[in-house]
Amino acid sequence: MRPEFVLTHVASRDTIDLSGEWVYSKDLYRTGLTDINGWVAKSRMQRYRDINVEAEEKKDPNSFYEFDMQRGPTMEIPNAWNSVLPELRYYVGVIWFQKEFDIKPQKDRRAFIHFEAANYRAHVFVNGQKAGEHSGGFTPFAFEITDIIRKGKNQITVAVDSFHDAESIPGSITDWDLYGGITRTPRIVFTPSTFIDDAYLQLDQNGKMIGEVRLNGDKKSNQRIEVEIAGTNKKISVTTDAHGKASIATDAPDNLKRWSPEDPHLYKVRFKSRTDNLDEKIGFRTIKTRGHEILLNDKPVFLAGISMHEEEIGENPSRNMTEAAIRKLFSEVKQGLNGNYIRLSHYPHSELASRIADEMGILLWSEIPVYWSIDFLNERVLNNAKRMMGENIYRDRNRASIIIWSIANETPVADDRNLFLQNLARSVRNMDPSRLISAALLVERKDTEKGIEISINDPLTNSLDILAVNTYNGWYGDDKLDDLAGIIWHTPDNRPVILSEFGADAMAGVHAEGAPFKFSEEYQAEYYRQTLRMADNIANLSGMSPWILKDFRSPRREHPVYQNGWNRKGLISETGVRKQSFDVMAEYYKKRQSTQH
Ligand code: GCU
Repeated sequence: MRPEFVLTHVASRDTIDLSGEWVYSKDLYRTGLTDINGWVAKSRMQRYRDINVEAEEKKDPNSFYEFDMQRGPTMEIPNAWNSVLPELRYYVGVIWFQKEFDIKPQKDRRAFIHFEAANYRAHVFVNGQKAGEHSGGFTPFAFEITDIIRKGKNQITVAVDSFHDAESIPGSITDWDLYGGITRTPRIVFTPSTFIDDAYLQLDQNGKMIGEVRLNGDKKSNQRIEVEIAGTNKKISVTTDAHGKASIATDAPDNLKRWSPEDPHLYKVRFKSRTDNLDEKIGFRTIKTRGHEILLNDKPVFLAGISMHEEEIGENPSRNMTEAAIRKLFSEVKQGLNGNYIRLSHYPHSELASRIADEMGILLWSEIPVYWSIDFLNERVLNNAKRMMGENIYRDRNRASIIIWSIANETPVADDRNLFLQNLARSVRNMDPSRLISAALLVERKDTEKGIEISINDPLTNSLDILAVNTYNGWYGDDKLDDLAGIIWHTPDNRPVILSEFGADAMAGVHAEGAPFKFSEEYQAEYYRQTLRMADNIANLSGMSPWILKDFRSPRREHPVYQNGWNRKGLISETGVRKQSFDVMAEYYKKRQSTQH
């Protein structure tokens, strides 16, 4: 499930960043792609045509077009269109985008169009020719355009279709905003004719240095590859095989500094071939489990975390996760909450997010949106899930911060779902045996004479390294907050258990004078105090990521006083105002930190 082009560390390469103003054209019925009977679209609607409509109309008064990608309105990209205009708030369908760019093609240089993400399906054309198509809203993709680009002015046209069909991952109903569009940076990438497409280096469980380098191009075989780790005396030299692949297995440098949240040391690593150099910044650490413990560099670690959607602080977020936006949210976790861990929910976040987590020393859970129910019986959907996981793994396997790949969230236990996820877990293990596999599971509850008893009875657990469970006693259902501390949890001791979600809504600024009521800050704070007392009674608990750091947009949440399209389970409001529960969580992690050392 390796992508055709990985283009490791794309931002470090020779690129043209296509961020900025793009002309856009709405196409609700996809008339620019297919005509009414599924025929090829009428040429007067083909937005991707390599023409200037105004010039054509001046040349021939009988010409007839029903689009114009030069004189149309523009939109700032990357961005989600839902937040740009009120009429696009809930727009589900195709919007076309076009951008012109100048280049000077050079001999022995290849060109690619690379998107960090587009949600949900992208049809890409360059100078009127189809470059490729991709589905999946949160992972990178690239198409080679070496033979399509020309000297001088070029144009790229993309149809982004935000509609989620029966084979989509996630399905069409989620508890977050759709956010359609070119939501992360698009670039033209230039490489030598034979280039380093994919390169990784990491520590294995025995402290050995292992990795792989793959060249792409007609001179990929039998090439020497040098790998330098700055600040060490280590020089690695390997040679590619007939497929352009070179494997690395060698002793680690002397006195190698391990990466950890307390000391997130990153090494500058340079991969060199005869015609290409690729620079990376890599933290070296090991992660594994031992019984119910999670071991980071062979030491038990408690995952003191929080869940996060990919949504910046502000009244009208548009998934415009700039470096400043990410650092602000991550510092709320690391400095604000005294945390060391974030569950990046419910889909792969940006490459920049995992790079910043590397720098700040934050452990990450990264997941693909196999969320609630998708078509578990469909082979194509399983292959889509594997491809999506591959796009995530091959993009981020140099990131020390990522310790967990998650394959699902709250998927109902059933035979087809079990087979689908067991198959997916095997595929993830094959692609990256170095990290832990998990999924956010549902628990089983029994009301017995002893009280409320919770257990984890899910056939999927045998495929997982970490058992993660979402639990909302005291928010959903009839349990009272006073019941929570007495809940009896049955957890296995042969594998770590973490609480991947628990939470309650509160609207910042809404206060209960008397008894706390739901949506008041006091209720949410008391919910947290009582749930943390319950958590302290769970034997072998190895971590938690309460739901959620920040209030986020969700079309499922429409209480006209407290919600209005926002899920209010954040510890901070959408504008970053901390609620009382924030301090409860920060205090709890601070206490845990002091007892851990
Ligand atoms: C679910 C789900 C989240 C959702 C949350 C909630 O567990 O995983 O995506 O937002 O609960 O109900 O707020």
